[in-house]
Amino acid sequence: MRASTLEGIKSIRDFELEDKRLFLRLDLNVPLDDDGRISDDTRIQAALPTLNYAIEKGAKIILASHFGRPKGHDPKYSLEPVAEALHTLLGKEIILIEEPRGHATRALLSGLKPSQIILLENLRFDSGEEKNDREFAQALASFSDIYINDAFGASHRAHASIVALPELMQKRGIGFLMQKEIEMLDTVRMNPQHPFMTILGGAKVSDKIDVIEAMMDKVDVLVIGGAMAYTFLAAQKLQIGSSLVERDKIGFAAELLQRAQLRKKRILLPIDHRITRAVHDIESLKVTETAAIPDGWMGVDIGPRTVELYAAEIARAKTIFWNGPMGVFETPSFATGTFAVAKAITESEALSVVGGGDSAAAAHASGLAEKFSHISTGGGASLEYLRGDRLPGVEALRRPKQSEQVEP
Ligand code: 3PG
Repeated sequence: MRASTLEGIKSIRDFELEDKRLFLRLDLNVPLDDDGRISDDTRIQAALPTLNYAIEKGAKIILASHFGRPKGHDPKYSLEPVAEALHTLLGKEIILIEEPRGHATRALLSGLKPSQIILLENLRFDSGEEKNDREFAQALASFSDIYINDAFGASHRAHASIVALPELMQKRGIGFLMQKEIEMLDTVRMNPQHPFMTILGGAKVSDKIDVIEAMMDKVDVLVIGGAMAYTFLAAQKLQIGSSLVERDKIGFAAELLQRAQLRKKRILLPIDHRITRAVHDIESLKVTETAAIPDGWMGVDIGPRTVELYAAEIARAKTIFWNGPMGVFETPSFATGTFAVAKAITESEALSVVGGGDSAAAAHASGLAEKFSHISTGGGASLEYLRGDRLPGVEALRRPKQSEQVEP
């Protein structure tokens, strides 16, 4: 494997899978709409390369994931809709197992044929999962020959299926999604080609402080949009009307602007805005002439001159990391700036990596998802990784195997 972060960590390709019981930890935590239907199946789609590989190689596949944040066993958080989606996508029967610790799992597994798939019910139904409980991990290890983590989006959680379980397994490694996520994010955090630009948006400066700090030395240009820009404009003593602002972060923003100037880093802020009287008052939408927002008005998106400014800068970049929308993109009338930035990024020749969460949703909503180099499936995980944290799910695969390994 190329990236040094993955040195010493095996890939699914390194194992003989035929007839072996493969425990495949995925992040199948997908959003549901009000009718309980999956509203975005990106994470399921992203798991398919590893899953198809395991099917093709004749593994007996045990899929496992968490789903939402249930407090104990709660049918609302069942993986049933995911089982159905997998069945449709793969054209294969998916057997959903209610009690991973129960005898049914062992009984079913003993009759499982190569390329057949069982899906364990939401791991968080078992209190052992979030406690990183060794006994729960031992129960899972007892019916698995090989452990593969392809759940990048959950690898910042020190939970039993992410940490305790691989620590017990002799044969363990990562899948294709995990490998791509780590390699792409490593390029951004360790080896970006210059000019390197980071585009940050979203509601809060406070959510991004650690990432800003971690990126500050590496970036050539930091572009800021979304509601967090208003805190920076307030730090420049500009009028921001009734726009969202984090008063307690104005000091941080002012200090960052000063630091950037000293280090000759450029920070770009909006020079005009789309504004409304209130966040739902679409009728009142208009564009400001300057960076100032009059009293009684609030910013909902970046303006056209800002789009032009940002797009020109994007066109020059060689590496771009994007996290956070430029406005309230969920409302179509306020999505113009976010989609224009997405367009400019995908038209540039830069390697482009989109951090997960809202920015991934915005990249998909723009209709341009295919054109980014990589859209991370991890929200929290990608931000934690970029700010320099080690991911428990990756580190667990590196540590020597724990002595009390359970013989399958
Ligand atoms: C996510 O949606 O970011 C991952 O699936 C992790 O979920 P969690 O934040 O509930 O641990």
